Amino acid sequence: MLKKEVSALLEQQINKELYSAYLYLDISNYYYSKNLDGFGNWFKIQAQEERDHAMLFLTYLQNNGEAPKLEAIAAPDKTFSNFRDPLAAALEHEEYVTSLINTIYAEAIKANDFRTLQFLDWFVKEQGEEEKNSNDLLGRFDLFGSDLKSLYALDAELGARTYSAPSLTL
Ligand code: FEO
Repeated sequence: MLKKEVSALLEQQINKELYSAYLYLDISNYYYSKNLDGFGNWFKIQAQEERDHAMLFLTYLQNNGEAPKLEAIAAPDKTFSNFRDPLAAALEHEEYVTSLINTIYAEAIKANDFRTLQFLDWFVKEQGEEEKNSNDLLGRFDLFGSDLKSLYALDAELGARTYSAPSLTL
């Protein structure tokens, strides 16, 4: 039912989203190890969201008669030498994921695959939010991160983040 070019990219995206979850778990580990548990919590929840994204791509393919092949997930390979590095890496990664979603979108347009376009619309919006969140967090760190009291307050705020399931259901 889906064109091969479109389904191949959707299949690949499962792996990319799971890698995103891995990357954010790695970042979460980093912050927990530095006693910034609020930052650690924020990225752990971010990882849960990425797992949800992977499940949405998987379910969409299953709903369209596909049995997506699951490839190995790469190990996170970023190194962090200060508290800012993971935030910059996260923003850069979200921009990369946006480019991947855009590529699938362009392929679906080429294939006149309106069903997939409708599915992807949620991700287009989601990526806008993800980039904004990453950018805001980096910006706030740059403003407050060098002052220990402010860093403590920011960490406490990020520690209050709770998980909620994605608004898209299939
Ligand atoms: Fe699923 Fe943050 O991209």
